[in-house]
Amino acid sequence: MTPQQPPSDSTSRRSFVQLAIGWSVAALAAAASSGAAVRFLVPNVLYEPSLRFKAGKPDDFPDGSVTFLEDERVFIVRQGNTYRCLSAVCTHLGCTVGRSELGFHCPCHGSSFDEQGKVKGGPAPRALEWFMVTLSKDRHLLVDKNERVDAEKYLVL
Ligand code: FES
Repeated sequence: MTPQQPPSDSTSRRSFVQLAIGWSVAALAAAASSGAAVRFLVPNVLYEPSLRFKAGKPDDFPDGSVTFLEDERVFIVRQGNTYRCLSAVCTHLGCTVGRSELGFHCPCHGSSFDEQGKVKGGPAPRALEWFMVTLSKDRHLLVDKNERVDAEKYLVL
């Protein structure tokens, strides 16, 4: 029977370091999987800007005007005491249409639309869209791009 010798200092120090590294890796792995689990609980939702906006006061738009609002990509059309809002987004591939002599023209592929937004030529598959216009409590034109309306629907003031 041989007597066992106590571990040397270098052997016990090496064991301690290996144990510490092992626990550190396990702790990091647990933290990473906890982070992933918490992230899983948060829904993947994209918040888009509202499609309702105030276009301005009615008097900002002179009688007979077709005013382009670049930020919203729409035209505000005023005729007398009526107000309408026409989309400036081409129904072909989404370029911004501009005014032309006979209505509207798309610079990308040449679609043309009449004053009512109906297709007159080019590849656009359908007419430009009209949006609901109402009056807000503080008397501004309120456009809702979620709500499409017929070209004949006006806000009358
Ligand atoms: S995007 Fe307007 S014609 Fe193509």
